[in-house]
Amino acid sequence: MSETTVAWVGLGRMGVVMAGRLLAADTPLSVWNRTAAKCAPLVELGATQLHSVADAASSDVVFSMVLDDGALAALHDPATGLFSGPPAQRSVRVWIDGSTVSPVAAETAAAAAAAAGVAYVSAPISGNPGVVESGNAIFAVSGDPAALDTAEELCLRIGRLVHRVGSRAEANVVKLCTNALLAVTMQTIAEIAVLADKVGVSRAALMGFVNESAIGSPFSRYKTANMVELEFPTTFTAQGQRKDIRLALELARQAEVPMPVLSETEVAFSRLVGSGLGEGLDFATLVLNAARDAGHTLQPEELT
Ligand SMILES: NC(=O)c1ccc[n+]([C@@H]2O[C@H](COP(=O)([O-])OP(=O)(O)OC[C@H]3O[C@@H](n4cnc5c(N)ncnc54)[C@H](OP(=O)(O)O)[C@@H]3O)[C@@H](O)[C@H]2O)c1
Repeated sequence: MSETTVAWVGLGRMGVVMAGRLLAADTPLSVWNRTAAKCAPLVELGATQLHSVADAASSDVVFSMVLDDGALAALHDPATGLFSGPPAQRSVRVWIDGSTVSPVAAETAAAAAAAAGVAYVSAPISGNPGVVESGNAIFAVSGDPAALDTAEELCLRIGRLVHRVGSRAEANVVKLCTNALLAVTMQTIAEIAVLADKVGVSRAALMGFVNESAIGSPFSRYKTANMVELEFPTTFTAQGQRKDIRLALELARQAEVPMPVLSETEVAFSRLVGSGLGEGLDFATLVLNAARDAGHTLQPEELT
């Protein structure tokens, strides 16, 4: 496995740190990104820059990390995508995708891969870029059983745990459900922070107690600074998080599963995105939305 060559496709906020961990683990790596300039930090660390996505197919494994269903579809576009080059020049045998996309998009990509003789694995990741950098991200993995060992071995160079959940697009479902829980939790944290503040209780005191209680979690702990200091460096944008909520709601619509709490949360995200309040910032700016709805102005506090 140490000689397996990997082509990394997609160097956004997540891709750049994930690919960086593969390089740190001495993985022979080439990289491609739609906006070529984003390859520079990885090239400085020793990766080879590719000039088209089709060039990625000359590695043993392709690992992609792109924004959404449309971006994943672009990767297997018959005219310009991964499998658009001459089959004789193609050595890829496994395509692993870490993006948060719908099960339908994953199954469509898997079918395109299968037609090219390539095994496809969905490997969506849980953990923001900081969590990835610390080695604590986890993967849900599903897909072609023949490729799961390869996927697991590579994912464990990036994160701390691989959770195998099936042989089709089950991992995509698990990821969307997990993100739905995350989005609803963030909205509720924002609401209680505004409630406490408006009735005269410090947000630092509130979050200190929540974090020690049974409902406290790594997530409530790392969002505490946002709630207290009102600084919002981006881990994930509100637009990106809303994209995942909408994918979960679409799955729920198809399956006839009412999700009233998630539906309300989608509205809160749309109010945030539409108002421009959190433009370019983290989705924890939901707290600004909640304060505006309450006719209340928050002031930055110090973390205790
Ligand atoms: N950020 C997080 O905390 C987090 C955590 C877990 C999972 N995720 C998921 O990880 C994925 C990437 O998130 P991110 O935060 O890294 O997003 P990002 O910073 O916006 O990066 C998106 C990446 O997708 C590429 N892309 C977009 N449209 C494309 C297209 N049509 N063709 C080819 N490439 C395209 C972008 O290329 P350009 O550079 O050219 O725009 C960029 O490399 C998303 O599915 C997200 O839901 C994010």
